[in-house]
Amino acid sequence: RVKRRQDYKPPQFLVDQVKLKFILDPSDTRVLTKLNVRFNTTAYGACDTSNLYLDGDSEMIQLVPNSLKVDGRTLEQGKDYQVSKTNLIINSMDGSGNGVLVEFQVSLNPSKNTALMGLYLSKNNFFTQCEAEGFRRITFFPDRPDVMSIYEVTLVGSRQDYPVLLSNGDCVESGVCSDEKYHYAVYRDPFRKPSYLFALVAGNLVHLEDSFVTMSGKKVTLRIYVQHGNLPKATFAMECLKQAMKWDEEQYGREYDLDTFNIVAVDDFSMGAMENKSLNIFNSKYVLANPETATDSDFEAIQAVVAHEYFHNWTGNRVTLRDWFQLSLKEGLTVFREQEFTADMTNRAVKRISDVMRLRTAQFPQDAGPMAHPVRPESYIEINNFYTVTIYEKGAEVIRMLRNLLGPKGFRKGCDLYFERYDGMAVTCDDWLSAHQDANPHVDLTQFRLWYSQAGTPQLSASTEYDASKSVLYLHLEQFIPPTPSQLLKEPMLIPIKVGILDRHGNSVLVDTGDGNAVETKVLDMKEFEQTFTFYRVPPNSVLSMLRGFSAPVKFSWKHQQSLDDLIFLMEKDKDEFNRWDAAQTVTLEYILQVANQLLDETCTLQQVASRVPAPSKAVLNAFQTILLDESLEHRFRSTMFVLPSELFVAEWMKPIYPDAVHLARLHLKRELASYLKRSLWSTFRKLEKELEGEHRLDSESRGKRALKNVCLEYLCCSQDPDALSVALEHFRKANNMTDALACLNILSAYGKEQGEVALAEFYRKWEHEYLVLDKWFRVQALVPSKDTLHRIQTLVESKSFDIKNPNNVYALIGGYALQNPYAFHLKDGSGYRFIADKILELDKINPQVAARIASCFTVWQKLEPNLRSLMQKQLERLFLRDDLSKDVFEVVNKSLTC
Ligand code: ARG
Ligand code: ZN
Repeated sequence: RVKRRQDYKPPQFLVDQVKLKFILDPSDTRVLTKLNVRFNTTAYGACDTSNLYLDGDSEMIQLVPNSLKVDGRTLEQGKDYQVSKTNLIINSMDGSGNGVLVEFQVSLNPSKNTALMGLYLSKNNFFTQCEAEGFRRITFFPDRPDVMSIYEVTLVGSRQDYPVLLSNGDCVESGVCSDEKYHYAVYRDPFRKPSYLFALVAGNLVHLEDSFVTMSGKKVTLRIYVQHGNLPKATFAMECLKQAMKWDEEQYGREYDLDTFNIVAVDDFSMGAMENKSLNIFNSKYVLANPETATDSDFEAIQAVVAHEYFHNWTGNRVTLRDWFQLSLKEGLTVFREQEFTADMTNRAVKRISDVMRLRTAQFPQDAGPMAHPVRPESYIEINNFYTVTIYEKGAEVIRMLRNLLGPKGFRKGCDLYFERYDGMAVTCDDWLSAHQDANPHVDLTQFRLWYSQAGTPQLSASTEYDASKSVLYLHLEQFIPPTPSQLLKEPMLIPIKVGILDRHGNSVLVDTGDGNAVETKVLDMKEFEQTFTFYRVPPNSVLSMLRGFSAPVKFSWKHQQSLDDLIFLMEKDKDEFNRWDAAQTVTLEYILQVANQLLDETCTLQQVASRVPAPSKAVLNAFQTILLDESLEHRFRSTMFVLPSELFVAEWMKPIYPDAVHLARLHLKRELASYLKRSLWSTFRKLEKELEGEHRLDSESRGKRALKNVCLEYLCCSQDPDALSVALEHFRKANNMTDALACLNILSAYGKEQGEVALAEFYRKWEHEYLVLDKWFRVQALVPSKDTLHRIQTLVESKSFDIKNPNNVYALIGGYALQNPYAFHLKDGSGYRFIADKILELDKINPQVAARIASCFTVWQKLEPNLRSLMQKQLERLFLRDDLSKDVFEVVNKSLTC
């Protein structure tokens, strides 16, 4: 079952042309397939086997009897060809390389396709999702990214039910069929592409239209297709698309290459969105938004995802992947491009902080658990399990380090060479690096390659020594890369460390390593397991600002804990905004850990916690006060400073993990901060409330104000102060936008008993018919930090508004609970785990991909305290014993148990 990177072989047959004709029907769609197949003579000698293997999932697709022909000759089953569970095998194909025409017809039942891979229905409209291996659920084909073909697609369907017919490329012909109930459209995509980029949409949709003139003066028609009634909600996504097109021209010189670009929104979608050539298909939550129904974060997510999918046109489509082990070649790079785009469109420091938060809360734990894998994995059972934070987010960090290493100009040169050299080809991560190496001969990228092959988060520890007589500061650094599944020993990596030095007044000291180039922030290239760096002309009592801007995805710590004074100093004085935030994270992380380690598994109330542990230092509280009131700082930055390290991230540092202790310790700190800052929180809240009065505005200044105002309100409510809670309820009721309404709803349901219930009921009544808003209502309830949350979820999954077949519903309610609410999930009797295991089994029959994502909540088991650990292990074993698991869930369960 295991696929290995080492086993890659070039395809035996190539397909130059694909002609598909779809006769669309919900339960019996026909796909007439014509393939121009040619023996791949460059890869094989003539002596190789001449059997043609086409991938095809025969549970989904049936070959229509007697329809298979080669060059016009009808083949006989058993003699000329065989059909297995996963293949159509045609014997004795022409191995001369001249090419033959293979024709056949398959039938499929989209209405039964709950896995949402291949051709499926959503609200009676047809959609496809082919990445990674969905095309084999549509027709028989060599379904691998290094087989690239020109596609011509004909769609035939009911005029009434499917007035819109779309596929990749340009529509070259359309009309009414002889039976006038039907119409057809023919699409031609002039670019060769792998099957995973194929798409079709057919349905009753409306569209928004706009256009963009490219840098060479070509006019591109842009359309966004949505369900009736949703058009006004698509205007924001359209603006984002135009911004992204312009940005890619300016930053990378990449121009759009067809006459039309379409985005289609769909409610049933397992992932975020898909970059099918010229026909992007999106989860509707990343397209539809207006201020009444979408939060500021929703708007930001839309901007990022629209850009991400658009950027794939060059990084993914024009230059594509040789095989799925190279997934990060397109995803890491495209995430990086999207991050930089967002940074340019919004606030760079805040964007960086939120990306690092995500990396630390989701990727670091993955890299330290049983599913750990390198950015370029060596093996997998189910490729869908590898659309991970490691491939995406750590992959983006690797690109970021590369750019820092080469400098922006060198990086751009490398990218230009990459596009020029590999356009139209299916390539590897090594090809990407070789383009950069060739464009930058003065830099040696050999050691850097380890970022692609070694899994695990490097741990970097540091200590200093100061020689006052010479004003020299020595920085001793050590790196350790923890063992990960099937990788026990590691080589030292090239870790770029950006450092700055501040004198005791907070002024920058130029970083002078003796190379004649003293600068405010210097990049140290750490290459050995242990290395010492020397800084000259350092005044006494200077403070180092390490890893500025999070210059490498590592866990950094000082050997001898950094003094609280130094951390507070950095929080207040560092020139690097990221490091100001990070210093605050370290200060609060250390306090939370100290408290949690004192509590462990004792059950106690927050009052008892407060009386048993040392209060946070006044200096820390004052530092937060200063930041809250510092009007010279942007609102958004200030609000971010108040987001304490998440429970998941704190748990990373605790061995074994006591989830309740982490939760109580974190909440305790929040309440201490709230009570010390009470007056400032009120005054800030009131002031911002005033400033935001009147018409709702979406600009970034207003968004920042809302964020800070709502953070203040959350702190004010976290001790369940009745006055604060009634303000929250009032604020909830008069909110004219979803950002405020949802923030209040979260606060009320987390901290207010009856007010929470009241608000949830009102919210439901108001939004009962807005599908995307109901997801928010589910998620809020999934995130209630209470030991009763399980019961709430159990009721909600049975409610009429919840559809277990809809991935957004599942992620919001079941995912929110199992993956984002540790305090409610880790129940001492194991009932939370049992419930989730039940749901995984149910989901596995519906949508294995989604089931496996939920199952990842169990990968933490070995790190938990003994009682929880054994309870979770029991559920994993229960799943493991089933013989009907999908590959997706099996891989997660099996790896969790055997590592
Ligand atoms: N390539 C898509 C993206 O933009 C993700 C598709 C994932 N699909 C899947 N079945 N795993 O990131
Ligand atoms: Zn992507």
